[in-house]
Amino acid sequence: MKKIYLYGNWKMHMNKAETEKFFIDFKPAYEIYKNDPDLEVGVFAPFTSLWAAAEGAKNNGVIFGAENVYFEPKGAFTGEVSIPMLQEIGVTHIILGHSERRHIFNEPDDMIAKKVKAVLDANIIPVLCYGETLDERESGKTFEVMTRQLKSAISNLKPEEVRKIIYAYEPVWAIGTGKSATSEQAQEVCEWSRNLIADPKVVILYGGSVKGSNAKELLSMKDIDGALVGGASLKPDTFLEIYKAYKN
Ligand code: PGA
Repeated sequence: MKKIYLYGNWKMHMNKAETEKFFIDFKPAYEIYKNDPDLEVGVFAPFTSLWAAAEGAKNNGVIFGAENVYFEPKGAFTGEVSIPMLQEIGVTHIILGHSERRHIFNEPDDMIAKKVKAVLDANIIPVLCYGETLDERESGKTFEVMTRQLKSAISNLKPEEVRKIIYAYEPVWAIGTGKSATSEQAQEVCEWSRNLIADPKVVILYGGSVKGSNAKELLSMKDIDGALVGGASLKPDTFLEIYKAYKN
């Protein structure tokens, strides 16, 4: 059995009280998976909930991380949060380049590349998201777009840094729409990504409307190592159901 990464991206949901409640409910639900060596669970929380997430994650032996960060260590960057600030909380993983950052907040490839490098330099694992919009897919640009997104992020890195990154293929048209990519579509891109990254050992997740009902199909694909889950990660039972469905 391959190891499965089940990562939850809470986006702009889950305040402090909701985070605490999540982990109270998570504990008994997670009990049966706790010692499963084939499962790695991670929760990515909004900045203001990270202290509560740190506590909950520690009590349950899961990973926790942030959903974004700025690449400068300090300075006049109103509204931004630095890597040292996140290290103070004990963050070990940070999502970078999520499509909502790229498309709603216009984060360009070169900024994402700087973030990836700064996060790696701090010995934190970047969870690097990439993926095409519906327009790009329909006009046959899927691989061109993803080549640009991936190459700009990794081309100046050392091979051991490239391997440290966790990659998350998230087609924009499948995020929050309820319409996941088919397992064949997701496998095709993840296999292609592994070849482009040129390292057979890298971890590649699929994200976009993953839930209990499509988890087995998606996670059984050869080049998909896990899921980055939005909506279904907000409740412990719908979140863990993804792994349960895969195992059954
Ligand atoms: P979704 O979000 O599971 O709600 O589609 C996935 C993501 O944006 O990471």
